[in-house]
Amino acid sequence: MKTVVLFGAGQVGAMLSRLMGTAYRISCFADNYEGKWGTTLAGIPVVSPRESLLCDPDCVCLCVLDAERAGEMEEQVRALGFKGEILRPDALKTFDARAATMRLLAEQIREENIPGDVAELGVFRGDFAALINAAFSDRTIHLFDTFEGFPARDVEIEQAQGLSRAKTGDFKDTAMETVEKRLPYRERAVFHKGYFPDSFDGCTEMTFAFVSVDADLYAPTAAALPRFFDRLSPGGVLLVHDVNSTQFSGAGKAVREFCKERGLLPMPVCDLHGSAVLRKAWRASDC
Ligand SMILES: C[S@@+](CC[C@H](N)C(=O)[O-])C[C@H]1O[C@@H](n2cnc3c(N)ncnc32)[C@H](O)[C@@H]1O
Repeated sequence: MKTVVLFGAGQVGAMLSRLMGTAYRISCFADNYEGKWGTTLAGIPVVSPRESLLCDPDCVCLCVLDAERAGEMEEQVRALGFKGEILRPDALKTFDARAATMRLLAEQIREENIPGDVAELGVFRGDFAALINAAFSDRTIHLFDTFEGFPARDVEIEQAQGLSRAKTGDFKDTAMETVEKRLPYRERAVFHKGYFPDSFDGCTEMTFAFVSVDADLYAPTAAALPRFFDRLSPGGVLLVHDVNSTQFSGAGKAVREFCKERGLLPMPVCDLHGSAVLRKAWRASDC
């Protein structure tokens, strides 16, 4: 077993500490920010880069996705005298646990004949919507977004509650028409352009098997959870993004509040932004 120091006590580091396999024993996090020294992240102590090398680790893992920043960190570690193996988490740009979870759920939903359409709230340029559309090629997909970025009224709530640094119009660089062209089964798509939850007004009779909630902010997430959850088929799923995000804390707040009210426990997904699965109870009599 190799001992490893995780360099970078941020969101990527926290996720990597959970993804590390049995071949590695994590000794600590190293971080350049003094304010983090003496604290813990995911139950692991955070120390200075110099102190982290005192235990003579076999490897140092650079917990950043930016190649330039990773290069600087490698230079720093080498300058401190580390001669061992350097690990770079480049695979995180290739593999995505959220997409994998969604595809596995799609297979299960198909095998179990769980009825309903699929949907996404928070589409932006349609990256994830295109994957959902491909995985659920035989289902209608409902796509909800302003397609004009974050609405001012939601951003006001973020600012008032200190939930994120979101700005009105962030993510506005998109268009419904370009999203539509990206969808492999675009004939299955129904667009609901506008402010959510107003855009949900005509959808109250629908049934869903799978919904991706990825609006980043507190207000639309809090509005989406009861609306979609109450319209899930038994065994249907909400996959909520950013539940453990340090950048957008409102999504996690909305999920915690909703789960407390409904007596649910979110199932965590180990992707970069900490998604979670909320599942409607499965009725054994339907088997
Ligand atoms: C992070 S982006 C979605 C990214 C996309 N799911 C993906 O994986 O590529 C968040 C989106 O939520 C949308 N959004 C946020 N609040 C909204 C609201 N109240 N109504 C409609 N759309 C909203 C924004 O316009 C933005 O496009």
